[in-house]
Amino acid sequence: MKTILIIGGAGYVGSHQVKLMCNKGYEVIVVDNLNTGFRDAVDGRAKFYLGDLRDYEFMTKIFVDHKIDAVIHFAALSLVGESVEKPLEYFDNNVGGMQNLLKVMVENNVKNLVFSSTAATYGTHEVMPITEEYSTNPENPYGESKLMMEQMIKWCAKAYDLNYLALRYFNVCGASLDGTIGENHDPETHLIPIVLQVPLGIREFIGIYGDDYATADGTCIRDYIHVEDLAAAHVCAVEKLFASKQNTIINLGYGHGYSVKEIIETARKVTGHPIPEKVTPRRAGDPAALVAQNTKAKEVLEWNPKYDDIELIIKTAFEYHKKQAK
Ligand code: UFG
Repeated sequence: MKTILIIGGAGYVGSHQVKLMCNKGYEVIVVDNLNTGFRDAVDGRAKFYLGDLRDYEFMTKIFVDHKIDAVIHFAALSLVGESVEKPLEYFDNNVGGMQNLLKVMVENNVKNLVFSSTAATYGTHEVMPITEEYSTNPENPYGESKLMMEQMIKWCAKAYDLNYLALRYFNVCGASLDGTIGENHDPETHLIPIVLQVPLGIREFIGIYGDDYATADGTCIRDYIHVEDLAAAHVCAVEKLFASKQNTIINLGYGHGYSVKEIIETARKVTGHPIPEKVTPRRAGDPAALVAQNTKAKEVLEWNPKYDDIELIIKTAFEYHKKQAK
């Protein structure tokens, strides 16, 4: 049985990954500092270590005590707005964490790495969908830190013969189909959980950040991917690393997008609530549209997404948030 170390396994995406890897029969070890993650989101079958990725002694002990076959790295600060205000925290946590991880991997001869990257590395582009060949031009320290992390991996792969896949996520959303784990940020900044706060009685209306973008209905378009499909892509990535040399970057999205207004309309349908809306000023740094070209994910990873259904996605999120609100 192969052993997978999942760093940031108590977070939103990480906790879904832990559960899926356990279901697939992998031995799973989780490291998380619980700054933004939740201990009870970690599947009971995984071995949990509370600690910080930047702590060299702590990480070395884990690598010495376990024979790790691959690492999946999710642990990062990930709020765009916060990153603009506190860039040093982002470079310290994200870039510093990656430096320590690469060091312990190299010292302990662990070669396989799947890295959680982001569409925020691309910045604004006029023509959709975005392929992996598009130029990178991050517009905030969060995206910049993730790009720096990708580059650190790339150079270390050359120097130390690492084998890696960097996966650039578009808008991850939804909750596990069994309703046990889901998205839980404080503060919440993502559209779908915020929209659902209206039918849950937590807020009175949804604010639309600008309706004067150059899109069909004037609101921003995003490529929303269900978290379980995203986790499945990571399983494919780990299997590919075990099978052969990879060392590349791959987009993860469905290849088509929905506007903010379409998301709100779908949430009305799913919840049966009128969800009042108000147009508010644009949020700084929002590109009009971000849609992935996902051909590479399908070809290289042999990834077959199952939940490309925005109603289902919003339904899974609503079921989860209803439980949380009780
Ligand atoms: N939005 C609103 N009202 C809200 C919240 C969001 O209108 O109350 C809009 C945003 O302006 C944006 C869209 O809904 O147009 C989606 O916003 P999210 O905050 O849900 O997601 P982002 O597209 O901003 O962020 C995602 C990822 C980030 C990543 C970024 C890259 O969650 O991790 O894409 O641009 F950095």
